[in-house]
Amino acid sequence: MSVDLDTIVSLAKRRGFVFPGSEIYGGLAGTYDFGPNGVELLNNLKRSWWKANVYDKENYYGLDAAMFKNPRTWEASGHVGGFSDPLAECKECNTRIRVDKELANVGVVADEKMSIEEINTLFDAHRAEIACPKCHKKNFSEARAFNLLVQSNLGDFTSDGSEPVYLPGEACQGIYLDYRNIVDTMNPKIPFGVVQIGKAFRNEIAPRNFLFRTRELEQADTQYFIRPNENKQAYEQIKQDRWNWYLAQGIREENLRWHQHENLVFYAKDAWDIEYNFPSLGFDELEGIHDRSDYDLTQHMEFSGVDLRYLDQETGEKYVPWILETSVGMGRMFLAVFADAYREDELGGEKRIYLALAPHLAPYQAAVFPLLKNKPELVDKARDVYALFKKAGVRAAFDDNGNIGKRYRRQDEIGTPFCITIDFDTLGENPELLDTVTLRHRDTGEQERVTIAEAAERLRSTIS
Ligand code: GAP
Repeated sequence: MSVDLDTIVSLAKRRGFVFPGSEIYGGLAGTYDFGPNGVELLNNLKRSWWKANVYDKENYYGLDAAMFKNPRTWEASGHVGGFSDPLAECKECNTRIRVDKELANVGVVADEKMSIEEINTLFDAHRAEIACPKCHKKNFSEARAFNLLVQSNLGDFTSDGSEPVYLPGEACQGIYLDYRNIVDTMNPKIPFGVVQIGKAFRNEIAPRNFLFRTRELEQADTQYFIRPNENKQAYEQIKQDRWNWYLAQGIREENLRWHQHENLVFYAKDAWDIEYNFPSLGFDELEGIHDRSDYDLTQHMEFSGVDLRYLDQETGEKYVPWILETSVGMGRMFLAVFADAYREDELGGEKRIYLALAPHLAPYQAAVFPLLKNKPELVDKARDVYALFKKAGVRAAFDDNGNIGKRYRRQDEIGTPFCITIDFDTLGENPELLDTVTLRHRDTGEQERVTIAEAAERLRSTIS
């Protein structure tokens, strides 16, 4: 089924997954907070991604680099000079538009390599077709290059106003800056990978569509260092691995597709996106897979004066490795997984919503309920079972709020795969059912009677 973005945004807020940033002050465009259930899903995604890209691989190393970097980093990377979007302002209501996106909407490609003059020529030729999204007038300023780097002030760097310090425009630069240290300390044999989940900040002209385009984001990056010109085969393998990873998170294959870039960003030699069929937006970029050649290390070698060549023990050669990159915004990954899990059906004659999240991603793997909250003997037993599950490594919730039907609905909307109810039979009212519980399955609503030990084992095996 297709669901619209407003429904997703509303469910995400209602169930404590995602809140608008700074909401009590009227918000701050392009920022979101992950709530108690959201941070669990986010962390589970990170764990699964990290496992696939570090623990399940050989010769891959993790990193957590500082966000503040010497400003020369962003000159060398090309961001100070080239990391910009063409911006125009509506002269009637001051709304800002991204001219390349508006041109794309009327079927005109504004090449990333085009100068601002060339973009203005295209813009002028199509002004009659582009209306302001707010006031619908067609009276725009000229386009100008708007740099996306977010500037900060940090001690000495800004005291005379001459040298600004920037927040990271892309997380991966930390990996290039530490490349030498990793080679010296870990002695990796080429090809090898370095991975990081790090924050990035972009002064997006038009942040919109919930987590899809935000100003503060987190990027999960892998950088694979290879011998020059050995990019083709490795690139195909990496593309396939990333595709399969999304399937393993439960995303339906029909909602994914490949897109090869015709207009390459300044650092890329080849670039493919995995696109996801986002609610209300349709297919758009989920993850970028880039052949960055030797661009990054060559630039940093030139700007820093430090030799970043790799001494290949096998061939005796010294060269600047090429880099194959995968980069995905955690927000987009979260949105894709969340939206893909959204289901509506009818259960017991009532419409219901549930999240069919894979058990390893769900905020809770099980919820434990006492049938009635005003019966201390049921509550005590439910608490014992809850403690037992936790001890067994199950992420469990204890819920005694409202009637049992409401609790089921709540857990369905959070995506909890199993609910376990403790009733009077558990306590031995029917001696044959002593120490048994009701185990309810989220996706079907089916219930079965199992022993507590069986329930624990079932949960453990589902998780593993
Ligand atoms: N290091 C490469 C790089 O930064 P990118 O295509 O600009 O490449 C990589 O970004 C990924 O980061 C995208 O595929 C997307 O998932 C995510 N991303 C980029 N800009 C974003 C934004 N403003 N909001 C949310 N996610 C974003």
